[in-house]
Amino acid sequence: MNKVAFITGSTRGIGKQIAITLAKNGYDVVINYRNENEDLINTKKEIEAQHVKCLAVQGDIANFEDCERMLKETIDKFGKIDVLVNNAGITKDMLLMRMKKEDFEQVIDVNLIGTFNMTKNAISYMMKARFGRIINLSSVVGLVGNAGQTNYSASKAGIIGFTKSLAKEVASRNILVNAIAPGFIETDMTGVLKEDVKEEIAKSIPLKRMGTVEDVANLVKFLASEESSYITGQVIHVDGGMVM
Ligand code: NAI
Repeated sequence: MNKVAFITGSTRGIGKQIAITLAKNGYDVVINYRNENEDLINTKKEIEAQHVKCLAVQGDIANFEDCERMLKETIDKFGKIDVLVNNAGITKDMLLMRMKKEDFEQVIDVNLIGTFNMTKNAISYMMKARFGRIINLSSVVGLVGNAGQTNYSASKAGIIGFTKSLAKEVASRNILVNAIAPGFIETDMTGVLKEDVKEEIAKSIPLKRMGTVEDVANLVKFLASEESSYITGQVIHVDGGMVM
């Protein structure tokens, strides 16, 4: 029986690559989207081409009831959830002086509360199964901060505290909880940056390039696998040496 992995925000960017990489490694995959579009259709096709099952569930992770329903749909179809990847996230960058309260709240609601909503609804199934892997997407800016990102950095730092506390709560049930802190990864999220800004960033990275979605997905593959069974409560960087 295949393991079942649920990846939030998985029709583009890092989430999409995680879904495809896990599918290639024999996982049945649950992908999550907010609105039906071509990205969703293409992602589903690419996953099914790996000869595994794919369930697409619609929902906003900032909404607790949506998360409850999406997990129920997962259990109805597969009877279990082995791996949860809390990937979906947003940015609303602005210097604090000019940041609106709504923009602070919205980023916390999606990135941090969304991670809580999904995990809270998945954990009871994992506790019963005495097996689970929870992998949370944080960011290096959650560790070192970034001007213009007080909301985003606070949400990503919050995810680190959440990860470590939960890792301690559920370790005895054989549930591992880890966080990934990517640096600059080439996706739509960073695509908004100007070319010259991206070049400057690349120059400042010891490995002299931005990361790829595969760089992050390969770590998820490892953290989801049996090979990582003695690793919990950790924050692992995928950042080309940007933060040491
Ligand atoms: P992206 O913007 O390309 O994709 C994010 C996905 O999440 C999209 O499919 C979007 O529809 C979905 N999403 C957003 N809000 C949602 C909600 N409320 N409910 C359900 N889905 C929602 O972003 P990217 O670059 O792929 O990032 C993925 C994760 O990695 C995020 O958590 C991000 O903060 C984190 N990260 C990304 C870095 C980068 O350089 N790209 C660096 C550090 C962390």
